[in-house]
Amino acid sequence: MSRKKIVAGNWKMNTDYNEAMALITNVFNASKTLINVEKIIFPPFPFLQSACEITKNETSFFIGAQNCSEHLSGAYTGEVSANMINSIGCSYVLIGHSERRLFFKETDDQLILKIKHALNHNLRIVYCVGEQLDERKNASHFDVVRAQLENVLNNFNELDLEKIHIAYEPVWAIGTGETATPDQAQEMHAYIRGVINKNFSAEAAEKINILYGGSCNSKNAKELFSCNDIDGGLIGGASLKADEFCKIMLSF
Ligand code: PGA
Repeated sequence: MSRKKIVAGNWKMNTDYNEAMALITNVFNASKTLINVEKIIFPPFPFLQSACEITKNETSFFIGAQNCSEHLSGAYTGEVSANMINSIGCSYVLIGHSERRLFFKETDDQLILKIKHALNHNLRIVYCVGEQLDERKNASHFDVVRAQLENVLNNFNELDLEKIHIAYEPVWAIGTGETATPDQAQEMHAYIRGVINKNFSAEAAEKINILYGGSCNSKNAKELFSCNDIDGGLIGGASLKADEFCKIMLSF
């Protein structure tokens, strides 16, 4: 079975309005003929609506939020709900990024609620998992990733799972310039597919898109994307340069 190819850009807390508009316009224009690759860009909240307007008629280019609240609405100053994100034209939300887990102490219970609200508001999800350096060193990385998958995704059914992509991002590779080797990444992606097989079905495991993230760039993307179980990338730093991101989109 051939799965969708996906390249996603996570801009994190970078760019101002003018930089964001220039970047999205450049990436969007450069990717127009590349219809066999799904593109997803996660700009900061204030730029989402304008980004959606620029990309709205394109069926292989989507805009997503980097987070959503675990609450539906109400007195939660500073929070942004799934409904708000959907109502301005976004298609995706990123859930469980390691920076949210580590710096903002997001728990599995919160991630479950975030995914529930996102699905109820017609958003698709990129759900991030990945071990820290000490966990890889003490060889608990498979257990850590399995727990991140099972504790959260087992609260959803197979139909829900069709709206979820997984991003495997080893924390030690994020923003460090140290990429997982294609063998290390492939090994974990195959393991993740096995976890989905065990908890859902062989069909669900075969269908689910698993992206690699962590210092992925135009030099290493081709080798990573050629691995059997790697369906694309979630790109941080290299998504802030239009040229570099476009080269990654062409790396399948
Ligand atoms: P990086 O970030 O590509 O800058 O390592 C990836 C991510 O955090 O999604």
